Amino acid sequence: MSRLSTLLLKWYSKHSRTMPWRDHPDPYAVWVSEIMLQQTRVETVIPYFEKWMKQFPDINLLANANEQDVLNAWEGLGYYTRARNLHKAAKIVASTFNGQLPRDLEALRSLPGIGRYTVGAIASIAFKMDAATLDGNLRRVFARLYDVTEFADSPAGEKILWEYAAQNLPKGKAGDYNQALIDLGATICLPKNPRCLLCPLLPMCKARENGTQELRPVLKPKKQVPQYIHIAAVIMDRGRVLLSQRPSDGLLGGMWEFPNARVEEHPAEALEKALKAATNIGVKKEAELGIVQHAYSHFRVIVHAFRCQAVSIPKNKNLKWVKIGELGDYPMGKVDRQIAGKKNDRHCDGHFIYDLLRVTKTIGRRFVCWCR
Ligand code: ADE
Repeated sequence: MSRLSTLLLKWYSKHSRTMPWRDHPDPYAVWVSEIMLQQTRVETVIPYFEKWMKQFPDINLLANANEQDVLNAWEGLGYYTRARNLHKAAKIVASTFNGQLPRDLEALRSLPGIGRYTVGAIASIAFKMDAATLDGNLRRVFARLYDVTEFADSPAGEKILWEYAAQNLPKGKAGDYNQALIDLGATICLPKNPRCLLCPLLPMCKARENGTQELRPVLKPKKQVPQYIHIAAVIMDRGRVLLSQRPSDGLLGGMWEFPNARVEEHPAEALEKALKAATNIGVKKEAELGIVQHAYSHFRVIVHAFRCQAVSIPKNKNLKWVKIGELGDYPMGKVDRQIAGKKNDRHCDGHFIYDLLRVTKTIGRRFVCWCR
């Protein structure tokens, strides 16, 4: 075993973090956790993971679940393609692999949503195979250990880092090795102010030796994300509100939202025309309710919500009149859930209004409830 692995595993035996999926030798649980953990913090994932494993305790149950239930269980975690891919992959595993996640790197890689990182993580953690992996934590750790000057998010940089990860892999202990590196990256080798004096790998860290630890990994400059202004229409009719389901592919695929449109001019003035042009829904504006903002990975939106009266509603399959009390049953992204009110709160109670006030305080607008 390399000196690096020896020191690392010794450290991990004392400092590994406790997580519910680490007690599960079950490959399905490892798979679910790895998908949830992509781009998402451990503390956020834990309650979702626990709820998920109760609702969909095995692959066959997930395969047979309906997509709306799957999206509902994922609501709030973001990056909903992960949930749809997990569901699709479960159906394939149920029909092609007898309900068992395959113990084979190529077969794993062929499943929707399972890329090179996830294959390495599942194979090493769940199947105890000698497989390397490289997530953001490992990338940072190896970029520092070897003081890599190549862009870590370029193909050339990734290739070097994967090689370092594979080179040091201790035979028979890849699962612990990968998780130790993840924990080291999350608790010691932090992106800013790394805690080098507590690091078990300090004696062999080239970046620390060169004083460049804060400069590694070298990443390509981030592009500025565009910001869009949208209007959203809360269209009420006899205790029901009109929701629209997004197409199943793409951002927030399959989720529900208040009919909305992007505007280039003053939202209140542009609303009726913009909504008609984007959705063919005709409305008359009644009152501005408030503003919600949200940052997606590639853009930011500021959404101005208005209560509206229906004028002409097309007969589209993606439109549905939903009882106010049933809004919680329809999976929504963060913006629309804020407009609708919290999932399990009774509409119009104090929590709901408080929540919206908190969200909108920063931009100095009062959000008013729309169903009174
Ligand atoms: N992030 C990605 N995979 C992880 C794991 N297995 N444990 C903790 N954090 C992770």
